[in-house]
Amino acid sequence: MLMESEQDRRRCEFFDQAAEGWEKRNYPPDVMAATETLISALPLCEGMTILDAGCGCGILAPILRRLAGAKARLIALDASAAMLAGVAAKDPQAVALLARAENIPLLDEYVDMVVCFSAFPHFSDHPAVAREFYRVLRPGGTAHVLHLASREMINRHHDGHRAVRGDYLPEKAAMRDMFMAAGFSSVTHDEKPEQYSFAAEKSEASNG
Ligand SMILES: C[S@@+](CC[C@H](N)C(=O)[O-])C[C@H]1O[C@@H](n2cnc3c(N)ncnc32)[C@H](O)[C@@H]1O
Repeated sequence: MLMESEQDRRRCEFFDQAAEGWEKRNYPPDVMAATETLISALPLCEGMTILDAGCGCGILAPILRRLAGAKARLIALDASAAMLAGVAAKDPQAVALLARAENIPLLDEYVDMVVCFSAFPHFSDHPAVAREFYRVLRPGGTAHVLHLASREMINRHHDGHRAVRGDYLPEKAAMRDMFMAAGFSSVTHDEKPEQYSFAAEKSEASNG
């Protein structure tokens, strides 16, 4: 895994070691069904270019492919090589990028949508990630931070694992301020006990 700080190193070891059997342990049929419902609510269109930031072993790839069609371009990015190794089996056409979300190796305005599922709290520099999401999105594109639990539950869950302790989903106002400071023109936030859904839109009128 690519790493920067001591905490990145611990997190990295955790995810590299967790890669084997990740889907079986974390995505039983009911969780998979809830994931599909969550992703189905996104404004996906046929043929989109979609970046899955913090894709893990590619859980979302078959869902995104079904929803966005054979012509969609799926880009799966993760900092763990062990996790990323699973992506090809999920979608042979997906482009797998071993990289950090804080430094995305894509051209400006390359993607129509960024999906970040169950991963944002683990990124070590949230403002840098928000800026990168903004940079790689085309004008009118959207970034989505998604979870299958509320912010409070996610943060409590992470505190239960030494390697990811302190990997928090920022509070509502902090998310809004961070994404607006990155350049996004509007944000929406929807939170329930079983779901967290944050979206940020890059204005059609933006010029970079
Ligand atoms: C909880 S897992 C979720 C993976 C996948 N989205 C899923 O739901 O199965 C979080 C993922 O974020 C990745 N990750 C952690 N820090 C990262 C960073 N700075 N940039 C990119 N990926 C990172 C980890 O390697 C891990 O695969």
